[in-house]
Amino acid sequence: TDFETIIVERRERVALVTLNRPKALNALNFQVLADLQAAFTEFDRDPAVGAVVITGSAKAFAAGADIKEMAPKTYMDMFLDDAFAGWDRIGCARKPTIAAVAGYALGGGCELAMLCDILIAADTAKFGQPEIGLGIIPGIGGSQRLTRAIGKAKAMDLVLTGRTMDAEEAERAGLVSRIVPADELLDAALTVAATVAGMSLPVAMIAKESVNRAFETTLAEGLRFERRMFHSLFATDDQKEGMAAFVEKRQPANFTHR
Ligand code: HXC
Repeated sequence: TDFETIIVERRERVALVTLNRPKALNALNFQVLADLQAAFTEFDRDPAVGAVVITGSAKAFAAGADIKEMAPKTYMDMFLDDAFAGWDRIGCARKPTIAAVAGYALGGGCELAMLCDILIAADTAKFGQPEIGLGIIPGIGGSQRLTRAIGKAKAMDLVLTGRTMDAEEAERAGLVSRIVPADELLDAALTVAATVAGMSLPVAMIAKESVNRAFETTLAEGLRFERRMFHSLFATDDQKEGMAAFVEKRQPANFTHR
């Protein structure tokens, strides 16, 4: 399928999404959202996709929501359109998602990266929630996800001052899982994605769901959820094959990919 604002490619079982509005530093307008929603709906449906990588350009992952598009909007426009609610679709993707971030990930760009499961940063990455300088606040989950990711101290600092944080600080704070040299970013992200996509798809989906549960519930409920999921995996061929392969000192074959 062709999209207006994103490029979608397949690298074996990995879907690679490249944000493609270079003249606007990949500002996230409503067309980008529509394109991503359509692409993600397809990825979740398509058994040939085992993991998704989202990336931008060397200069910008995404410099935020499109300020020029938002500027004339009224309260009623935003309220009646339920503006930005559609981004939940990306956060609700059932398959594992990886953000590969180089350059600016600001405002909605930082929030899009945080909607992904694994966040890999180039050493050139810059994260921030500069909305306050525009007279607004984060609107795609930044005040909530950033706070959960890096804690109140740094989240307040970033959200109230609008300053940016470099890749080193972002990794130290726990926003980012790895930093790689900028020219190795895409390869690193695709390698991680291929590794995940090589696992049993249902097991990877359940692992993702279980980790995400940690952000939604109490420890006792989360542990109960994990244990039920863990028990249920013993009904799968993949548990039988994975453990047999270990015992027989070989690689597992035929993990479920649909
Ligand atoms: C629309 C944008 C944009 C954005 C950049 N551009 N960011 N257009 N929305 N968020 C456009 C510029 O207008 C310019 O186009 C072109 O991209 C290149 O940008 P420059 O500013 O010339 O580049 P540079 O000087 O290198 O500065 C890069 C930058 C700066 C520091 C990232 O562009 C910047 O501050 N951008 C805005 C960052 C921001 O405030 N993001 C938060 C948005 S609010 P023209 O044609 O004019 O030359 C948000 C809210 C989300 O995300 C939640 C919903 C409420």
